[in-house]
Amino acid sequence: MTESRPTLSAEWIAEQADRLIPGKVRLLDQTRLPETVAFIETDDLETVREAICALRVRGAPAIGIAAAMGVAAALQRSASETGAALADDVARMADRLASARPTAVNLFWALDRMKRAATTHAALAPAAFKEQLAREAVAIRDEDAACCRRIGELGAELLRDGDTVLTHCNAGRLAVSELGTALAPVYVAREQGKTVRVYADETRPLLQGARLTAWELAQAGVDVTLICDNTAAQVMKEGRIQAVLVGADRIAANGDAANKIGTYGVAVLAHAHGIPFYVLAPTSTFDPAAPDGSAIPIEERAAEEVTCGFGRRTAPENVKVYSPAFDVAPASLVSAIVCERGVLRPPYADSIRRALSLD
Ligand code: MRU
Repeated sequence: MTESRPTLSAEWIAEQADRLIPGKVRLLDQTRLPETVAFIETDDLETVREAICALRVRGAPAIGIAAAMGVAAALQRSASETGAALADDVARMADRLASARPTAVNLFWALDRMKRAATTHAALAPAAFKEQLAREAVAIRDEDAACCRRIGELGAELLRDGDTVLTHCNAGRLAVSELGTALAPVYVAREQGKTVRVYADETRPLLQGARLTAWELAQAGVDVTLICDNTAAQVMKEGRIQAVLVGADRIAANGDAANKIGTYGVAVLAHAHGIPFYVLAPTSTFDPAAPDGSAIPIEERAAEEVTCGFGRRTAPENVKVYSPAFDVAPASLVSAIVCERGVLRPPYADSIRRALSLD
């Protein structure tokens, strides 16, 4: 593990993460931010799986990229002597990583791509096979970067100079390959010379908004104000917010969008205050097999994350806890879904089918 104080820019740090370096995958340990910048460099599949489970690497696209790169790195160690045997290794590894977290569909999407690449290249000799699988993992990352850039450009058109947006959780540079999804329009608007300010929900219980969003935006020089989650209604009522921008972990065929717990509440609040609520995500986050949000599996997290989150007990021992990690904003509350193929508007059953070329 390499470690340093975070004097380097968040942009540089995020770009160094989710990289294949010779024979290994490099992941940024996001649980240690904002205090410490620590990279995990490994070719061990269980280390990658633990990193995903423990949210060392988190954010839907980043989870998928890390998993693909984890497979590619772990494959280098395999002693299997044929492409077909290596393809079996890939299938086993993918199944193992698929059990790490259930909600972000990007994980399954990326692992499916690796399995398909393995099938395609099963006739190759081992060295060439391993090279092709590494290429696939790098392609997944690079394509995500291009998606984020496009989402940023399309999303920036929805924002006016001087707007203030509210965001929940972290859907910025740290959650993807580069730039972000929900935060990409903020960065692109800035490149265009617009001033866009951000209110960041702190995002209980694991504080992705405070630890990650506030950190990466402040490092980029974006005007960011951190609020407790329960302050969102008040800042909307005070007229401080012109748009809500959130990411997604899985978007159902009808436009229902799963994202970090609390997103549903923010969507209800935005609707009540007449504020547009935008979901921004690459098409790798769409799950056309889920007809609506009720088909999206929602991860439940350990009670200790609520009762003893950062090393201090804040609730009685053995109190009952319910801690879903995600909730679903119903399509009826979503003003638009911004993906790399366009700004999708209701009815989402139609616009999503068109975006995914399913018609
Ligand atoms: O539990 P996390 O931190 O992985 O949850 C992340 C989110 O909910 C993000 O908003 C989502 O994955 C989109 S990231 C571009």
